[in-house]
Amino acid sequence: APAMSYEHILVSNPKPGVGLVTLNRPRALNALSTPLFLELNDALLKLNQDKDTGAIVITGSNKAFAAGADIKEMKDLTFSSAYTTDFIELWSSPTSQIKKPIIAAVNGYALGGGCELAMMTDIIYCSSTATFGQPEIKLGTIPGAGGSQRLTRAIGKSRAMELILTGKNFSGKEAGEWGLAARVFQEPEECLEEALKTAELIAGYSQVAVKAAKEVVNKSQDLGVRDGMEYERRVFHSLFGSKDQKIGMFYPASIPVPLLTKD
Ligand code: CAA
Repeated sequence: APAMSYEHILVSNPKPGVGLVTLNRPRALNALSTPLFLELNDALLKLNQDKDTGAIVITGSNKAFAAGADIKEMKDLTFSSAYTTDFIELWSSPTSQIKKPIIAAVNGYALGGGCELAMMTDIIYCSSTATFGQPEIKLGTIPGAGGSQRLTRAIGKSRAMELILTGKNFSGKEAGEWGLAARVFQEPEECLEEALKTAELIAGYSQVAVKAAKEVVNKSQDLGVRDGMEYERRVFHSLFGSKDQKIGMFYPASIPVPLLTKD
C-alpha cells in the first residue's frame, strides 16, 4: 500500500493486497469529525487507486468502532450553515467513489454515524459484544448519513423503525441474527483477523471480476429485479473480454493469485 500518514487514522498493509484503515481518535471514541472524515476519504481514494490493493478493511478500537458524528462539532450548527455547506455530504464518498470491496470490522460502539459508516461498507463483521445503534433521536435529531435508508433495507422496516424511533442500541449478536452483519465473532481480535483474511482472499481474485461483482450487487439496491438481471447479464458478458476469465477457466483449479493478470 502507498505510504500514508495522518492524524486521526492509521493506514497499514497487514496482508498481501489488503489495506487496513484504523480509526484512531481514542479519546473521542473515534467520533467522526470533518478532519477525520477528510483523512478517511483521502486514504480510501489512495487505496482505491493503488494497483497492489485488492480489498480494504476499516476498523476502530476494541472499545469503539466509532461513537457517531462529532457532537461537539455539530452542537452550534444552524440550518443555513448545515444546508449551504452540505454538512456531511462528504461522508458519501466511501460509497460513491470507492470501487474496491470494503469490510468493516466492528468492535465496541458503532453508534449514529459510526453505525452508518459500517453500513456504507460492503461487508460487516462484528464481535458479539459490539454495540450498534442510531441514537440520534435522543439528541433531538435523526440519522443523517444514510442510517434510515440502509438500516431499513438491511433489517426490515419494523425493526429499523423501532430502533430509530427509540434510539435503543442493539448488540453484535443481534446484528448477525438480523442479517446486518455477515459474521459475528466472540473476540474483537478474531473479528479483525477474520476480516483481514476475507480481504486477503478477495484481493487474490481477479480485480476486474471483483470490481464487477461489487458493482452488480450494489445495483440490486437501486434497480428492480428485471433491470438488475439485465444489468448483471451485460456485465457478465463483458467479463469474457478479460484475460483473467481466460486464465481462470483454463486453469480452474489454480485460480489464486499468481495466475491473475488484473487484465
Ligand atoms: N462526538 C463527540 N465526542 C464524543 C462522541 C461523539 N459522538 N462520543 C463520545 N465522545 C467523547 C466524549 O465526549 C468523551 O470526551 P471527553 O472525555 O472530552 O468528555 C469521550 O469521547 C469518552 O466518552 P464517554 O466518557 O461518554 O465514554 P463512556 O464509555 O462513558 O460512554 C458512549 C460511551 C455510550 C458511546 C457515549 O460516549 C455516548 O453516548 N456517545 C455519544 C453517542 C451518540 O449519541 N452518537 C450519535 C451522534 S449523532 C450522529 O451520529 C448524527 C449522524 O447520523 C450523522
